[in-house]
Amino acid sequence: MRKSRTLDRKSGSRPSSTISESLVSRTRTQVVIVGAGPAGLLLGQLLHRVGIDAVILERRSAEYVLGRIRAGVLEQGTVEVLDCAGASARLRKEGLIHDGVGIGFEGRRHRIALKQLVGKAVTVYGQTELTRDLMEARAASGCTSIYEAEDVALHGWGGASPKVTYRRNGATHEIACDFIAGCDGYHGVCRASIPADKSRVFEHVYPFGWLGVLADVPPPWSELVYANSERGFALASLRSPTRVRCYVQCSLDDRVENWSDTRFWDEFRRRIGEEVADRVVTAPSIEKSIAPLRSFVVEPLRFGRLFLAGDAAHIVPPTGAKGLNLAVSDVYYLHEALRDHYRDRSEIPLDEYSARCLRRIWKAERFSWWMTRQLHLFPGDAFARRMQVTELEYLFESAAAQASMAENYVGLPFEPAAASARTQVA
Ligand code: APR
Ligand code: PHB
Repeated sequence: MRKSRTLDRKSGSRPSSTISESLVSRTRTQVVIVGAGPAGLLLGQLLHRVGIDAVILERRSAEYVLGRIRAGVLEQGTVEVLDCAGASARLRKEGLIHDGVGIGFEGRRHRIALKQLVGKAVTVYGQTELTRDLMEARAASGCTSIYEAEDVALHGWGGASPKVTYRRNGATHEIACDFIAGCDGYHGVCRASIPADKSRVFEHVYPFGWLGVLADVPPPWSELVYANSERGFALASLRSPTRVRCYVQCSLDDRVENWSDTRFWDEFRRRIGEEVADRVVTAPSIEKSIAPLRSFVVEPLRFGRLFLAGDAAHIVPPTGAKGLNLAVSDVYYLHEALRDHYRDRSEIPLDEYSARCLRRIWKAERFSWWMTRQLHLFPGDAFARRMQVTELEYLFESAAAQASMAENYVGLPFEPAAASARTQVA
């Protein structure tokens, strides 16, 4: 009969008695990474390249992780980090470089010339493909990843010798480590293990969702188009020259069953603007889902020997295409902090991690919130609508406003490691 398991949130661990009884293995590594999404896999690669051992624990199977449909607009900085991790060969070959992005408004498409305005572009490459590349790089590195690890639990992260336990095939395993990296997403165990009084949460939930469709048709648009229409938001995106990803704003209580493919494409055409609508080719959807929109940040990102990164620490509405890119900058900063800690035997890089990430996170949260506010229909607020329309008109007329949007869309520069010591945010 399996013993009941009590979790003591104060010290963040289970009474050792119940664990040791059913333990079948005890191992040690330098870093336990919880979660094999893009954040966890990329951190594993970056640490491997600087000679730091890490074990990845993932609750699901690799097939399940690969089956998730996620966005795919990569900042230039993200591509460079993937170079650094040795996981960019296919991306460099198959990724689509976009030097601009379109904003649809009142039937017209306005192009924001990213490359011309700020000298940088974005790369369109599906997150699923990126996750596959990182999994292959991980397998090639021979490092340990444990999939279908159940009941992952953290112990002693407030002290000097943290441990992580998990169950697999009915047996309990324990991994002792120096640090735990919480890359387990919004619904993961890592942030949930932190006592509420030790952290501060900032959240904003938007009164609508996105209905997304994936279809195998050639995109009739060469760059992404974000449209603000009287009927609500729409986005024309793509995965490849033969596969599109399109979205329309929908109400939060809407259900996929209410949306036949025909209804979806009709509504999409009515919102995206004539120029694009006339060239839309439709096909049966191969995936259709609704996602809510929220802005979420937890502060700080470090709790003793536990570090949060990616969706475990923050969520952005997808309108700014920042979710994946923020996860990448978090783990890049974390790998630098751990590298410098082990190299210099110094706590300073670890102490800097949270504030350094949060400076970039809040700027991406602001941009994603601004894009969402600019492009969606917020019913019942005539003044807000006038502000929205006026701000869009200003954007289309002002090179300075376009440059500001462009520099945020292509990705703000990474902060050099050392500098942050001098610029600590109060
Ligand atoms: N134990 C082990 N693994 C877990 C647990 C747990 N208790 N809880 C969650 N996980 C795993 C999930 O199964 C998932 O594979 O952690 C992984 C977290 O991956 P993501 O949710 O993809 O988060 P992250 O790697 O931070 O990537 C952020 O994903 O959602 C997009 O827009 C987001 O693009 C951003 C990116
Ligand atoms: C997508 O391709 O799924 C996508 C692109 C840009 C966004 C959001 C989603 O802002």
